Amino acid sequence: MDTVLSNLGVGSGDVILEFSYLLAAIFFVIGLKRLSHPESARNGNLWAAGGMLLAIITTMIFHKTGAGEGIAITNIVIILVVIAIGSVIGAVIARRIKMTDMPQLVSVFNATGGAASALVALIEFSNPENESTLVTLLGLVIGIIAFSGSMIAYGKLDGKVGDIFAGFMKYLNLFILLIIVVLIVYITAGTAPFETQQLLVYLLLTIALIYGITFVLPIGGADMPVVISLLNSFTGIAAAMAGFIYQNQAMILGGIFVGSAGTILTILMCKAMNRSLLNVIIGSFGGGGEGIEHEAGVIKEVSASDAAVLLSYSQKVVIVPGYGLAVAQAQHVCNDLAKLLEEKDVEVKFAIHPVAGRMPGHMNVLLAEAEVPYEKLVEMDDINPDMPNTDVVVIIGANDVVNPAALDDPSSPIYGMPIIKAHEAKNVIVMKRGMGKGYAAIENYLFFADNTRMFFGSAKDSIQKLVSEIKNL
Ligand code: TAP
Repeated sequence: MDTVLSNLGVGSGDVILEFSYLLAAIFFVIGLKRLSHPESARNGNLWAAGGMLLAIITTMIFHKTGAGEGIAITNIVIILVVIAIGSVIGAVIARRIKMTDMPQLVSVFNATGGAASALVALIEFSNPENESTLVTLLGLVIGIIAFSGSMIAYGKLDGKVGDIFAGFMKYLNLFILLIIVVLIVYITAGTAPFETQQLLVYLLLTIALIYGITFVLPIGGADMPVVISLLNSFTGIAAAMAGFIYQNQAMILGGIFVGSAGTILTILMCKAMNRSLLNVIIGSFGGGGEGIEHEAGVIKEVSASDAAVLLSYSQKVVIVPGYGLAVAQAQHVCNDLAKLLEEKDVEVKFAIHPVAGRMPGHMNVLLAEAEVPYEKLVEMDDINPDMPNTDVVVIIGANDVVNPAALDDPSSPIYGMPIIKAHEAKNVIVMKRGMGKGYAAIENYLFFADNTRMFFGSAKDSIQKLVSEIKNL
């Protein structure tokens, strides 16, 4: 076997390496497939991580440098030390982070991925053996945009950075993008002396870094989900570019998987928000049209005992969970409430909005954790036609995803976003702490509607009170 391989100019180490990359790719695919369902998602993560571990180990053992030698022992030691430090930091942060801060963590991890790819490109630009200048520059630009854009996204999700809706931003962004394209074309043409090219690469890096900031800053309202998944796909593409520089199949495949998964998610998010991607990026929606005048009206409260009676004597109840449910960690008591009502022959379903919470699938993950049967979770489009026949909709810590302004107020920043049509139900009970606004920072006139009653308090306490009232009936 070895003789056949050496006649072909291939060492057995190369074959093992290539085979391990193929195996890693299969692991990634299985991991991605399993990630698409809440019940198998945890296990899917392990498959994907296993694929990555395999690729790292076989690369360290079998990779050969340009001179045909393996990786030097000192370098392997450095790599292992760095992996150990990174793993410890990652594990500690991931363990300590609150579930509601997970989107911020994802943004920071995404930023580090983009920065790593950009650094690879920056270093490899000066490597005389690297012949793929265009790929290197694209990796540099996309990676650094993913880095700075994700850091701004982190700031926005964490409430540290506000929205800047200045109309001139889109012209500024187009101008910066033009400079980036001109620089890439000029450097790739290779007409300037090498020292000048190196300086231009640093200039390109700086301008792309600024572009990441100015590109994400004006995107606001409820459109962050689209941007987050778009930045995620940027990081994947940048990693794939870094893979092309090193001609490393595992990096290319891993990057392409992340890039394409991020792109598919971006398209799904755009559909969920009813926006085109261009519309989100240049931020030209909302804010302009003729708004309808809403009377602020009067808030009507409901007591725990009245809510308990209303729910217990209903036939159909729909629970709409939102970000507040995650903040209050009320998913388990929420499931208790549903089970209790079912014991009283009430049909209970959970309405899932695609961007409820702060990350894709946030509500599915929370409710799966509380062991709410999967068949009880109904997607927005499937539950909406049933709303007029629903006796009570219980909204728990949701706001933007049930705001009727998205349907009837062209001046609203969320106009056009599909919502769960809770307002069409016979009765609506809203559980939240006060009159605080949602992520899009806008008023919700559903709270003043005739068929709406407010149940103020933190979601977990309110549901607990409700559960004990129902038990006492
Ligand atoms: P939001 O519109 O953000 O509203 C959450 C509501 O929960 C707030 O109005 C708040 O009101 C209430 N709340 C907070 N803590 C609470 C607690 N302990 N108990 C009870 N209520 C509590 O949530 P949503 O309806 O889920 O909408 C999600 C929004 O986030 C959308 O605008 C979406 O575009 C955006 N977003 C989503 C994602 C993804 S991918 N899902 C990512 C980024 C942004 P009080 O302060 O009065 O209690």
